[in-house]
Amino acid sequence: MTSSIIRMSKGPILENRIVIDDIVAGYGPVQVLRGVSVHVEPGETVVLLGSNGNGKSTLINAIMGIVRPTAGSIILERDGQRIDLIGKAPEEIVGLGIAMVPEGRRLFPALTVEENLMLGAYRKDARAKITENLEFCLEAFPALRERYKQIAGNMSGGEQQMIAFARALMSAPSILLIDEPSVGLAPILVNRMIAKIAELKTHRNLTILMAEQNFNQAIKIADRGYIIVHGEIAFEGRNTEELKNNELIKQYYLGV
Ligand SMILES: Nc1ncnc2c1ncn2[C@@H]1O[C@H](COP(=O)(O)OP(=O)(O)OP(=O)(O)O)[C@@H](O)[C@H]1O
Ligand SMILES: [Mg+2]
Repeated sequence: MTSSIIRMSKGPILENRIVIDDIVAGYGPVQVLRGVSVHVEPGETVVLLGSNGNGKSTLINAIMGIVRPTAGSIILERDGQRIDLIGKAPEEIVGLGIAMVPEGRRLFPALTVEENLMLGAYRKDARAKITENLEFCLEAFPALRERYKQIAGNMSGGEQQMIAFARALMSAPSILLIDEPSVGLAPILVNRMIAKIAELKTHRNLTILMAEQNFNQAIKIADRGYIIVHGEIAFEGRNTEELKNNELIKQYYLGV
């Protein structure tokens, strides 16, 4: 009942999914992704697991148009329409309702919280809803309201991660790509961040693809996930149980 009220107030629900098929991508002569296929269904939280340097950020950057694949396809299915994302500029991709919380926050450290948030709102739809989205972000992260005029670079790691999340939400996305939200945060803050992602997802009806190395935290909110090893999908877990029982997970994350 409550969720239907929230949904109604947000207008029609868009059924958006991302289907990545057999992409090859890298940096110049360096091939990083070697035939990766991943899909994210409407309303899902999908986790991309893998240790350092295996291609998680490259995959997220390929979806955002920052890295251009040399083969394969990345399709956004949006209310029955199929939109090829390869070749589109990052701002066009943001315009289609996909936003990223980048690895390492990538804030503008010399700008204030307010200025950083406004930079996330350049999308046309987002500009129209700037007051509403801003209010939503400041309600979601009350600490940012208190520090609204403060310089971002002087704030703690946890606060900077909140700014990075809020900036992404200012574009009113339906799909959120989150690159290692737990990095650099104390364990208690990681707990809070994971709980906050779950809360945002419910209230915003978001679809989420999240790269994360903290397996035990990621599976608290993930529906299912993939393990990426040397730029290839080594395992696809259809649920968290399948992930927990996987040998690679036991070896890399659970210390078995
Ligand atoms: N701009 C770049 N130019 C050249 N090589 C790069 C660049 N960015 C990443 N790489 C290389 O691509 C490979 C995959 O990197 P990527 O950042 O996708 O890994 P990751 O899984 O996100 O790792 P991490 O967990 O450390 O963030 C690595 O070998 C990395 O050195
Ligand atoms: Mg990375």
